[in-house]
Amino acid sequence: MSEASPIEREVARRRTFAIISHPDAGKTTLTEKLLLFAGAIHIAGSVKARKASRHATSDWMEIEKQRGISVASSVMQMEYRDCVINLLDTPGHQDFSEDTYRVLTAVDAALMVIDGANGVESQTLRLLEVCRARNTPIITFINKFDREVQEPLSLIDEIERTLGMPAVPFTWPVGMGKGFGGVFDMPKNRMRVFRAGEERVSGEEESIDGRDNPEIAARFDTRWEHAQHDIELVEMAAPAFDREAFLAGKQTPVFFGSAINNFGVQEVLDALVDMAPPPGDRTAIQRYVHVDEPKFSGVVFKIQANMDPAHRDRVAFVRICSGRFDRGMKLKISRNGKELRTNNVVSFLSQSREIVDEAFPGDIIGIPNHGLLQLGDTLTEGEVLQFTGLPFFAPELFQTVEVKDPLRTKQLRTGLGQLGEEGAIQVFRPHAGTMILLGAVGTLQFEVVQHRLKTEYGVEARLGSTNYRLARWVTCEDPNILKRFIDANAHRIAYDVVDAPTFLASHSAELQVAGERYPEVKFHALREHA
Ligand code: G4P
Repeated sequence: MSEASPIEREVARRRTFAIISHPDAGKTTLTEKLLLFAGAIHIAGSVKARKASRHATSDWMEIEKQRGISVASSVMQMEYRDCVINLLDTPGHQDFSEDTYRVLTAVDAALMVIDGANGVESQTLRLLEVCRARNTPIITFINKFDREVQEPLSLIDEIERTLGMPAVPFTWPVGMGKGFGGVFDMPKNRMRVFRAGEERVSGEEESIDGRDNPEIAARFDTRWEHAQHDIELVEMAAPAFDREAFLAGKQTPVFFGSAINNFGVQEVLDALVDMAPPPGDRTAIQRYVHVDEPKFSGVVFKIQANMDPAHRDRVAFVRICSGRFDRGMKLKISRNGKELRTNNVVSFLSQSREIVDEAFPGDIIGIPNHGLLQLGDTLTEGEVLQFTGLPFFAPELFQTVEVKDPLRTKQLRTGLGQLGEEGAIQVFRPHAGTMILLGAVGTLQFEVVQHRLKTEYGVEARLGSTNYRLARWVTCEDPNILKRFIDANAHRIAYDVVDAPTFLASHSAELQVAGERYPEVKFHALREHA
């Protein structure tokens, strides 16, 4: 076998993932513990402190003050067991936006955190859909077993039903709440004994070897009997873990624990290293791009406005897809051939923004720019490449937008054009009428846009409510049928930033009716960046 190149070696030790969860399931806590176990932070509580300050602020002015912090914290890099782990934050709560979805296009695996009391909740389901569309491998962590939660068997059942794939438990809880005794680690055939407390890191856990060890039965009596019974059932019913199926997004390994007590965290970190895939090859329109090619390529998956709105300074988040990044190297934007200097590119080392000297596939680099870079842009050393697969998601919330001072109409259009390109909001032009429509997946997006129109473009915008609740991009092989469809539904059609026609409805029944009348027309909830 030939020796691995330096790039191949770096690729093999990269793991890039995001946590998907519903608010309050424990994402912040688990993030912090993962960083702690990987030795990336020394003071537990810093991630949480950040979240607390974000929570306390409800208006965008205050959130903006935090933006510098949130840029730095939206990607965290840590080293663990000779692996470089990139954890991408998926903003939740009131920050929920299209960015949340797009982040999932830049990862190779997802960690799903579930609150054991609540099971799989709505926001997790929305994020799961994106993972499923891309066959992203998912590792599941069921949290809060130090509380009274649901029966583990019914949790497994629920996961299988909602994910539509087998769930393969690697650990099994013994008791719960006040009676939580720990988890039985099935592959390792030993019981890990639970101890409450946040102080322990690794290597301090008590374990009892062997399923038949009488000590387990003696110490955990009926709880162990119950767990043993469940384990037997699960072993009979669940398929064996199949790594290929996991990597294809067709099976999920499941771990139980209590993040706040640092319990079960190590197993999750080990699972990421042992099971989650390293960065793989990617498809561009022009050709297939191998991850270990010597030449750099990367794709912009998120754009975040920076601290100083007066300078329109923005950071483009680029996922490296192949080759190697060296500071100062010249990169070209495939869309327009423009060259980009990379002297001030930043990396994200556990919450601090640092200038990066080199980076590899799977890593995320941040490129400060003044509007040169757009969402979906591909960067290379010169070759024209355009990666596919950066999706736009059908908005779920709609508002009309008007300018208070008609003399500033032009500025409104410019501002909306740029904010639309940045992906801060989706802008629709109705087929009939003149009122511009804004579409979003999170309500905060409207606030952000209104505020930024004012501070960056000097436009006081007035937002108004609409009856629309869902949107679908429409296509049809026969352009004449599409035209007929559009004419017949003129008052429900709007065009997005690239003039793609979109059908708007206030109820899913309307969508159904339209679909029945025009079976040739296809309705899409996703539109890929062209
Ligand atoms: P999120 O980022 O997914 O929204 O969740 P976060 O980690 O902030 O956790 C939400 C709440 O759940 C927090 O409590 C946190 O302390 C708690 N929590 C997280 N993991 C566990 C666990 O393993 N067991 C138990 N019992 N609780 C857990 P909070 O009261 O909202 O905040 P705080 O007052 O503790 O800061």
